[in-house]
Amino acid sequence: MELHGIQKLIRPSIRALTPYSSARNEFSGQASIFIDANENYTDFVGGEGRNRYPDPKHTLLKRSIEDALGFASERVVLGNGSDEIIDLLFRIFCEPKEDQVVLLPPTYGAYQVFADINDVGITSIPLTPTYDLDMKSIRERMDELNDGKNKLLFICSPNNPSGNSFSLPQIKEVASLFHGITVVDEAYIDFSEHESAASLIEDNDRIVVLRTLSKAWGLANVRIGFAIADPDIITVMHHVKYPYNLSGIQQETAVKALAEKDRVDDTVRQIISERERIASFLPSLSYVEQVYDSDANFILVKVIDADLLYTSLLKKGIIIRNRSRVIGCSGCVRITVGSREENDALLAALKELEEVLS
Ligand SMILES: Cc1ncc(COP(=O)(O)O)c(C=O)c1O
Repeated sequence: MELHGIQKLIRPSIRALTPYSSARNEFSGQASIFIDANENYTDFVGGEGRNRYPDPKHTLLKRSIEDALGFASERVVLGNGSDEIIDLLFRIFCEPKEDQVVLLPPTYGAYQVFADINDVGITSIPLTPTYDLDMKSIRERMDELNDGKNKLLFICSPNNPSGNSFSLPQIKEVASLFHGITVVDEAYIDFSEHESAASLIEDNDRIVVLRTLSKAWGLANVRIGFAIADPDIITVMHHVKYPYNLSGIQQETAVKALAEKDRVDDTVRQIISERERIASFLPSLSYVEQVYDSDANFILVKVIDADLLYTSLLKKGIIIRNRSRVIGCSGCVRITVGSREENDALLAALKELEEVLS
């Protein structure tokens, strides 16, 4: 039988998989006695059903995502952070030791780490020195990218660590030229004015959009990420994920957070306004060489001596991210926008360091 579209990209062992069917997957309808899943009938920690396995399909949480963000449940799969989703994509599409993924560095470091863990090679097309997509190289190298080995191409927009977004027409062009899966990681999109690539999925079923509740939604500790994709991809992702990958505590907490959209929007506005305050202060420091425009909740800054700035701030109890050893980010540090008070403390500390760093 000839395989078509997405099916052709999926690893043969995953295509042939008979997925694990959990007790709670098989049950639907009404019942009062649950003796199907080898659970303990006792909830020792107080009446919230912690003795029962959680919903493997995340039904209520998906409904909340649909209500808050407008993504239909059949187009969503949830993971233990979007990191789990990234790993799932490798396990579904990339044959260890054979396949490759395309990365556009400098970008989120986990793509490389999950490639290494899954024994998958990298094809690298660096961003330009101004952190734009190198469309010329991408177009020129498309035959190589479409050699059948490159299964995933990661575009992080807004990009971590540079903070800028890529234009939707460019993302659309890359995704339509590339025959594999284009993964658009939108972890920071809530802080950006740019339109989501989710709108492109309708016309291109090889696009997967990643979102997380760790940033704007304030749930980094809870670990919730999700993918928006064509239902065929979503079905395979459900087959491959751990059946109970999100605990009941995670699912219930996320449902509560998603009901707080107005408060989240207020905080996002506050973070953006603080980002602009920090960004306009930084150029006044003599040791700052460049402040990169950011569409995220952090700012990339090039300074005269990134190591010295990092250790000097550490001595004052302030931790920033030293990115100076990342290719394409020489001399750079990444600063997360904190609360107004934290930012005041940061700016005061940076000012005090004028003498040490200039
Ligand atoms: C671009 C990007 N994607 C994904 C993640 C991971 O998010 P999560 O907390 O959902 O695993 C991060 C975390 O910093 C990130 O920067």
